[in-house]
Amino acid sequence: MSSDPARAFRDTIGRFSTGVAIVTTIGADGPAGMTTNAVASLSLDPLLLIVCFELRSRTLEVVRASQRFAVNILRAGDEELAAVFASKRVGPEKFEALTHHRWREEHGVPVLDRALAWVACDLRELLPGGDHEIGVGEVVRTGTGDDGDPLVFHRGAYTTVAH
Ligand SMILES: Cc1cc2nc3c(=O)[nH]c(=O)nc-3n(C[C@H](O)[C@H](O)[C@H](O)COP(=O)(O)O)c2cc1C
Repeated sequence: MSSDPARAFRDTIGRFSTGVAIVTTIGADGPAGMTTNAVASLSLDPLLLIVCFELRSRTLEVVRASQRFAVNILRAGDEELAAVFASKRVGPEKFEALTHHRWREEHGVPVLDRALAWVACDLRELLPGGDHEIGVGEVVRTGTGDDGDPLVFHRGAYTTVAH
């Protein structure tokens, strides 16, 4: 390993391409959400998925209170949306930036009309994971949009799938 193990790890694991999703929820101060790529399917029986929340994430605190969240899978071309939700604007302001993209509530959590697909979950557990907490979500409702291409995160940059 190089002299900077964290950098070497990021460089290595960054070659494992992922999708990009906005994790959303609603709290006392309105909707909240953040851009994520540490999302994975966990179990089919029962239906579970995981989201890894950085401890500093404000969305984590809202999810802890609301006990539910949605995973909104982004489509190719939605880099600007990803940037807004990766910012430190307050939650409702992030949603106000969605001028061309409406959202609605499904199972009490915000679902973006523009999402390629979405999954609404009840929070089952928050497990410790170093500087993150691993949110285990029980899948309650799912939806798919059209067959558009996904936004992909690879080696620290956005790309999409090749046909
Ligand atoms: C491509 C990308 C992927 C990200 N993945 C995650 C993630 O999986 N978990 C996480 O906690 N933060 C992730 N982040 C960082 C959060 O989006 C960022 O810290 C955001 O400001 C959190 O917002 P909040 O404090 O309003 O919750 C990611 C950022 C980008 C650009």
